[in-house]
Amino acid sequence: MQPAAPPALPDYVACQLPAGARGDWTLVKVRLPERAEPPGGDPRPEAFRFRPGSYTELRRGGITFMTDLYDEWWTQRHAIARARTVGGRVLITGLGLGMVVEAILASPAPAEVTSVTVIEQSPDVIELVAPHLLDRFGERLAIVQADAFTWEPAGSARFETVWHDIWPDPDAACVDAEMAQLREHHASWSDWQGFWPLDYRDALSAR
Ligand SMILES: C[S@@+](CC[C@H](N)C(=O)[O-])C[C@H]1O[C@@H](n2cnc3c(N)ncnc32)[C@H](O)[C@@H]1O
Repeated sequence: MQPAAPPALPDYVACQLPAGARGDWTLVKVRLPERAEPPGGDPRPEAFRFRPGSYTELRRGGITFMTDLYDEWWTQRHAIARARTVGGRVLITGLGLGMVVEAILASPAPAEVTSVTVIEQSPDVIELVAPHLLDRFGERLAIVQADAFTWEPAGSARFETVWHDIWPDPDAACVDAEMAQLREHHASWSDWQGFWPLDYRDALSAR
């Protein structure tokens, strides 16, 4: 019998990074206790339902930028599946907890992902998160401290998959204009570009 092909979309895995703090960024472990369902149940799609348990949060000051709640993984699934199905070179803007990096690189994929390049603006986030990922993924992963709106690849590099996730809030007033700006800036080296706020909005409105 043929061995089963590796999955395009791996299972959700909780963040394993240790807690820490750098500058005004903190990586904290939180526990969400059981709580009663709202009367009539939670109207949101299954991926967004409340799931009690232990989670990791990346915060700057009072703003939560990223968590490893299930919906954060679910709303990045198209980029994860695309990267692992097409293979080749992947570009990601926004390191966060590295959840999407993990999902792309941590297990065998249907097509070989040869490299993942992450553009992250904050040196503090890089200090908190990058060493753990670089230890695990070695030369297949490059984490570059730069601004996603101005960074350009060296030479004639192209990327099969480009995923933009630099926002804490998918509905903030700046988001649509910034997505358009990023789409245009990265167009000439991207075969495909995806944007977390668009996938988040689609997933939340799906029934
Ligand atoms: C929501 S988190 C990314 C989550 C990530 N997709 C994951 O799977 O864990 C957003 C990240 O984008 C970074 N960021 C914000 N603005 C940026 C910019 N202009 N260029 C590069 N990174 C930026 C933040 O510092 C933060 O680390």
